[in-house]
Amino acid sequence: MTTTIQNARLSSLTVLLAVLQQHQSLNDCLAPTLDDLADSRDRALSQALCYGVLRQLPYLRALLKPLLRKPFKERDQDLEIILLMGVYQLLYTRIPPHAALAETVQLTRVLNKPWATALVNGVLRNFQRQQDKLTAQVAEKGDAVLAHPAWWLKKLRNDWGKLAPTIAQANNEQAPMTIRVNARHHSRETYLPQLTALGFEAIPTPHTTHGLTLSTAVDVQQLPGFDAGWVSVQDGAAQLAAQILDVPEGSRVLDACAAPGGKTAHLLERYQPSELIAIDSQAERVEKIVGTLQRLHFSATICCADASRPADWWDGQTFDRILLDVPCSASGVIRRHPDIKYLRQATDLKALAQQQAALLSAIWPLLAKGGRLLYVTCSVFAEENHLQLQNFLQQHSDASEAKLNVNWGHTLPVGRQILPGEDNLDGFYYACLVKTV
Ligand SMILES: C[S@@+](CC[C@H](N)C(=O)[O-])C[C@H]1O[C@@H](n2cnc3c(N)ncnc32)[C@H](O)[C@@H]1O
Repeated sequence: MTTTIQNARLSSLTVLLAVLQQHQSLNDCLAPTLDDLADSRDRALSQALCYGVLRQLPYLRALLKPLLRKPFKERDQDLEIILLMGVYQLLYTRIPPHAALAETVQLTRVLNKPWATALVNGVLRNFQRQQDKLTAQVAEKGDAVLAHPAWWLKKLRNDWGKLAPTIAQANNEQAPMTIRVNARHHSRETYLPQLTALGFEAIPTPHTTHGLTLSTAVDVQQLPGFDAGWVSVQDGAAQLAAQILDVPEGSRVLDACAAPGGKTAHLLERYQPSELIAIDSQAERVEKIVGTLQRLHFSATICCADASRPADWWDGQTFDRILLDVPCSASGVIRRHPDIKYLRQATDLKALAQQQAALLSAIWPLLAKGGRLLYVTCSVFAEENHLQLQNFLQQHSDASEAKLNVNWGHTLPVGRQILPGEDNLDGFYYACLVKTV
C-alpha cells in the first residue's frame, strides 16, 4: 500500500525526471502534479523535494558518487533521482531519518524495480554512516558545494570575480514572497496592518515604495483584497522598473516585452500615461497580460507582435517612455527557478544576446527626442547587460546613459546590477538611456 508521504515522493520523482530528462520547466510540470495531491502536507513535501533537489543537485551528486560502484544506466536514471531525494531528505529536512529511508526505498517497489531495493537501501544507509566524512571530503574539493554546473561557475567568476561564490550561494537560497501594494488602493502603511491582523508578518521591501516582504509564503487568496486588485506578487527588484522609469502625466508609453504584465500593471498603478501599449510576441503570454490587467481593473492597448519588427504594429507616433524588459538567461532569478541551472546551456547566451541587441536597435527609433528607455534583464551575465549596452551606445550617437541616482546595486560601466540575495532581492540589471538629438 502506498502512504500519502510516498505519493508526495512519487510525484517529486515524476517532476524531477521531467525536468532533468525531458528538459521541461519546473513551473510547468510541478503545478499540475501538485494539483493531483489532495493533502496540503503532501503538496508541501513534494514542492520542497523538487526545489531542494534542484537547488543542490551537483552537490548531492558529488556526495553520492563515492558510494556508487558505477553510474546508473540511462534507463535507471530514476534510481539516481531516488537516491538524490533520499540524501536531500537526510541532509536538509526534519523528516526522521528512518522514515525518510523507508519511504524513499519503497519507491523502488512502486517503480517495479524490486531488484534495486537493497541497492538504494544500502547506499542510503552508507551515506547515513559516512555523512560527516563525505560532506568534509566534498567541501575540501570546493566547487561542488556551490551546486552549479561548471560552465555557470566559470562564467560567474569571469564576470564577478570574488563575488562568484556569494552569488552561487544566494542562488541556492529560498526566495521570499514579496508583494506590491497597489498605490490606487492603499499605501503599504495602510495595507500592512490588514496583513498583520490576519497573523501574517511582513516588512517593507528595501528600496521599494510599495513592496512588502512576507516572512512566510501564503496563498494569494489569503491576501486581503487580492481579487479586488489591492496587491500583486512581484519581487522587490522587479518593482524598481516602474519606480525608475518616472513617467510624466500624459506621456505615451511602450512596454515592449510585457508578459505576464507585472511591470505594465505597476506602471499603471503609479502613473497616468495618455496611452500605454503592451506588446509580447507569445500569444499565450499575451493572455496573461490581459488577465493581470483585468484583475487590477486597468486597461491598456495590448498587442501580440514581435517588438523587433515595428513595421508590423507601430502607428508611427513616438513614445516618451519605453520599458524594454528583454528575454534573457534569467540567471538572476535562480533562487526562484533552480531548474534554469540545468535547462540553460552556455551556448544559449549568444543567441539571447543577439535577440536583445535586435530588440534594442529596432525599438530605439520609436523613442521621442528627450525620451527615456529603460533596459532591464533578470540576468547577472555581462554580455546581456553592460556589454550589450556599451555596444549599443558605441553604435548610436543619439543615445546617452542617464545615470541612475540610487543607493542599491553595483555600478557598472553602463547601468546598475543588483545581485541575487542582496537586500533579499532577485538579481536584476537596469540601464536608462536618453535620446539626445
Ligand atoms: C522578461 S519577460 C517580460 C516580463 C514582464 N515585463 C513582466 O514584468 O511581467 C520577457 C518577455 O519578452 C517576450 N518576448 C521575447 N521576444 C519578444 C519579441 N521579439 N517581441 C516582443 N516580446 C518578446 C517574451 O515572450 C517574454 O514574455
